[in-house]
Amino acid sequence: MSKHIHWQKHLINQAQREKLMGHKSLVIWLTGLSGSGKSTIGNHVEQQLYQEGIHSFLLDGDDMRQGINKDLGFKREDRTENTRRIAEIATVLNQAGIIAIVSTISPFKEDREMAKNIISKDYYSEVYIKCSLEECERRDPKGLYQKAKSGEIKQFTGVSQPYQEPEDPDLILDTTYLSVQKSSHHLTNYIKSQIEGE
Ligand code: PPS
Repeated sequence: MSKHIHWQKHLINQAQREKLMGHKSLVIWLTGLSGSGKSTIGNHVEQQLYQEGIHSFLLDGDDMRQGINKDLGFKREDRTENTRRIAEIATVLNQAGIIAIVSTISPFKEDREMAKNIISKDYYSEVYIKCSLEECERRDPKGLYQKAKSGEIKQFTGVSQPYQEPEDPDLILDTTYLSVQKSSHHLTNYIKSQIEGE
């Protein structure tokens, strides 16, 4: 980064933007294995919040990888850069007063910690969309586990690359047992409890 770059002072601050929205802003970071239900739950929650007049936006890893992150693959450094860029975008949404719902595997603890630091810990909530590998493999909604096992897809999370479980997430939704409806309902209620009173 060049030395000759300076932060611009905004005349409107985040507290003012939050006041305009009528609630605190927040980044909800959904992490979990492929097929655990992150995108589905994130989508339902965005819809539920919309119906309650709360402005949120779903940033989905798969979508980001077709646009801003299309130059990245799945090796360790690329996953880190993928997470960093998503965290930066989530930060912009958060500063604009919007609830950012991030849905990305983000398999490495260190990278999630980096995301939390970029966003700031006061605005970051980590939600572990927990699901056993066996159940994700059974669901295999995109046929990716099968391709990973046959070797057609390399560096696949849970099969040929690790997934590091969150140690102290703010919320755990275990989709091995919970339905999409129940998980989404829990998460919507959690978000509402976090953003009230501003
Ligand atoms: S990561 O780990 O955070 O960088 O991944 P993310 O940006 O969330 O993208 C995950 C989606 O990419 C597809 N895909 C793979 N996932 C994991 N490992 C490998 N090798 C891979 N190749 C392609 C897959 O559709 C993931 O989406 P989800 O929704 O998690 O299934």
